[in-house]
Amino acid sequence: MDWMAPKKSDHLIDVASGSGDIAKYFLKNTDYTGKVKCVEPNKYMLEVGKKKLKNSSNVKWYCSPAEKLPFSDEIFDIYVVSFGIRNFSDINQALKEAKRVLKIGGRFLCLEFSKVDNEILAKFYQGYSKIIPYLGKYIVGKSEPYEYLVNSINSFYNQQELMDIIKSIGFEKTEYRDLSGGIASIHSGWKI
Ligand SMILES: C[S@@+](CC[C@H](N)C(=O)[O-])C[C@H]1O[C@@H](n2cnc3c(N)ncnc32)[C@H](O)[C@@H]1O
Repeated sequence: MDWMAPKKSDHLIDVASGSGDIAKYFLKNTDYTGKVKCVEPNKYMLEVGKKKLKNSSNVKWYCSPAEKLPFSDEIFDIYVVSFGIRNFSDINQALKEAKRVLKIGGRFLCLEFSKVDNEILAKFYQGYSKIIPYLGKYIVGKSEPYEYLVNSINSFYNQQELMDIIKSIGFEKTEYRDLSGGIASIHSGWKI
């Protein structure tokens, strides 16, 4: 949210919104003047979000995949996807849709698990990743979703590869910032 630095009345599209945590912080950071469209293909997540933010009339909910957004061209100031892009079935198509719905001068932001650079931290993180499915089994009773989580993180692009894909769609002034030594990173690009 700090790097996004939204302005009052900005119009945000939050894709793979889950239950709307980004929407919640965005509203707070725009003094509740911003507008948000939350897009999420899982109707159960949408229902949780709707209940959680039921008093926020500036938030609207749409059941749709990132690859086919139900909006006309050039209407958003900011597009955000947080821990969602890794799950998209067609990242290139989703990024084309992101560019289509952004206004000229609009910004694309993506928060996602990434690759750790530091050798010592990488070793620790690899070890921790191995026990995540066991923790899932112990705490939630299922290991499969946590195996998917670890495998999808391991097989996802590194910071530079993801930035190259974002650039190849036509976003400009692309850059990224690592969080927690690269466990996650934020990518930014502009539609100019
Ligand atoms: C880990 S959750 C992230 C939720 C939220 N953005 C957050 O940061 O808390 C990932 C979300 O991506 C959604 N998702 C999976 N495939 C998608 C697709 N093709 N288009 C849009 N969202 C998708 C899932 O339904 C899930 O809610």
